[in-house]
Amino acid sequence: MRATVTAHKDYTISKIDDRVYGAFLEHLGRAIYTGIYEPGHATADKNGMRGDVAQLVRELKVPMVRYPGGNFVSAYNWEDGVGPREQRPTRLDLAWHTSDSNAVGVHEFADWCDLVDTEMMLAINLGSRGLDDARNFLEYVNGPTGSYWGDLRKKNGRADPFNVKLWCLGNEMDGPWQVGHKTAHEYGRLANEVAKTMRAFDKKLELIVCGSSHSNMPTYPDWEREVLEHTYDNVDHISLHMYFANRENERALAEGGTADVLAKNTANYLALNEKLDRYIATVASTINFVKSKNRSKHNVYISFDEWNVWYHSNKQDRKILDGNDGWPHAPRLLEDIYNFEDVLQVGLILNTFIRRSDVVKLACIAQLVNVIAPIMTDPKGQAWRQTIYYPYYFASVYGRGTALQLAINTPGYDAEHGDNIGYVDVSGVYNEEDGTISFFAVNRHATEAIDVELSLEGFGAATVIDHQVMTHANLRAVNTATEQTNVAPSKGTGAKVDGKLLSVKLQPYSYQMIRVKV
Ligand code: AHR
Repeated sequence: MRATVTAHKDYTISKIDDRVYGAFLEHLGRAIYTGIYEPGHATADKNGMRGDVAQLVRELKVPMVRYPGGNFVSAYNWEDGVGPREQRPTRLDLAWHTSDSNAVGVHEFADWCDLVDTEMMLAINLGSRGLDDARNFLEYVNGPTGSYWGDLRKKNGRADPFNVKLWCLGNEMDGPWQVGHKTAHEYGRLANEVAKTMRAFDKKLELIVCGSSHSNMPTYPDWEREVLEHTYDNVDHISLHMYFANRENERALAEGGTADVLAKNTANYLALNEKLDRYIATVASTINFVKSKNRSKHNVYISFDEWNVWYHSNKQDRKILDGNDGWPHAPRLLEDIYNFEDVLQVGLILNTFIRRSDVVKLACIAQLVNVIAPIMTDPKGQAWRQTIYYPYYFASVYGRGTALQLAINTPGYDAEHGDNIGYVDVSGVYNEEDGTISFFAVNRHATEAIDVELSLEGFGAATVIDHQVMTHANLRAVNTATEQTNVAPSKGTGAKVDGKLLSVKLQPYSYQMIRVKV
């Protein structure tokens, strides 16, 4: 099979906001406790933060991390996590049926962000709480000393304001599962008043209002319209979430499904970014609709602040979520073990964000450590890279610059979520500073290698400077504490440049990054 791609220096989509490679950490399962924080661990620093985990996070160059939830935030009292540790209360977390010692709060999280060189994105509780707590929290975090909250922060060890710019106005407020779930009208009114109040404190904050929890919600996309009609000129981003799953294959495998059935399910699974693309396009149109309706000059963008594959751990989590284990502290929850198939999926998701970098300015892989995460740890033990670590790493480290508007000609197939899904999915990022183009490509074909010819128009003479390939004979291969590199990239050898033509062979079911100096 053959595919052709044309990249032209003058045909660009947008400058990519680095923060599209952000991540998320929630007080959930072992994300915080025995994830980033484990006093007594062999690599822990004086604050109890695991050095092995911090090292892996630094390697990813994560630009910002959303905290502390998620569903958790909708019944969270931020005050529980400040002040002397021994006086902090242990609380029951109603979202995940666990308990939280509050040993980590905003101060510890801020110190960890410094340690891993990332920016904080904070979520406020608009479920069980409201405007007053939001403004108090904001003043505590960003206010000057000489005021009540600023002085309290100083007493708790930090005189300088944290200067957090990114604030999420609640989490998934459209979800009936959310503590304090609201209608679009109720939430839109509240979010607007909170946004106005926060802006009265600081006009330069970047505020993120809740959109839909996923595009299957019955209220989608009316929710976005109504919420934006209430808030449009006072917010900067609308938040979307989406999780990807191949449950059909899980079922088929349990029932001894044939190879044909499994392949069809994989084909559908790998076409899900078509649905993601439509979700983004719909919300982008809704933003434009409200902008026009409001006769506004203000721009609102999309914050895709929860995305990932999430389904492998669903069954094993039921017992805790149903309350049959009492209220455990930091149990194993949402610990998806990712396989090679998920490498392809994460590569496809990131390609979609690069191609929609005109509207998606913020995004967070959900989550970062242990909980549906690229990094796993054993308590008292090692930290390692899950399979999906790699496509996230390649995009985050090399996908910075300007997204190129590629013209792609590829054979395709019909799937549940769309017709003519290209076997080749590719994005290209031009980095003017170092004069490189990074292409991220996925071959969705199960059995056919595809010869791709990329024509590089308007650039100087090109040379291949890096080529990384991820393939595996087994789509269900995973990495574990004892087999940490079972699924890992290897150096590719087949990428060649002839004049302005870059050619590369994409093996069946492969993820590849090809970088050229131009
Ligand atoms: O990331 C796990 C959960 O998924 C988050 O807490 C919630 O916002 C979403 O439903």
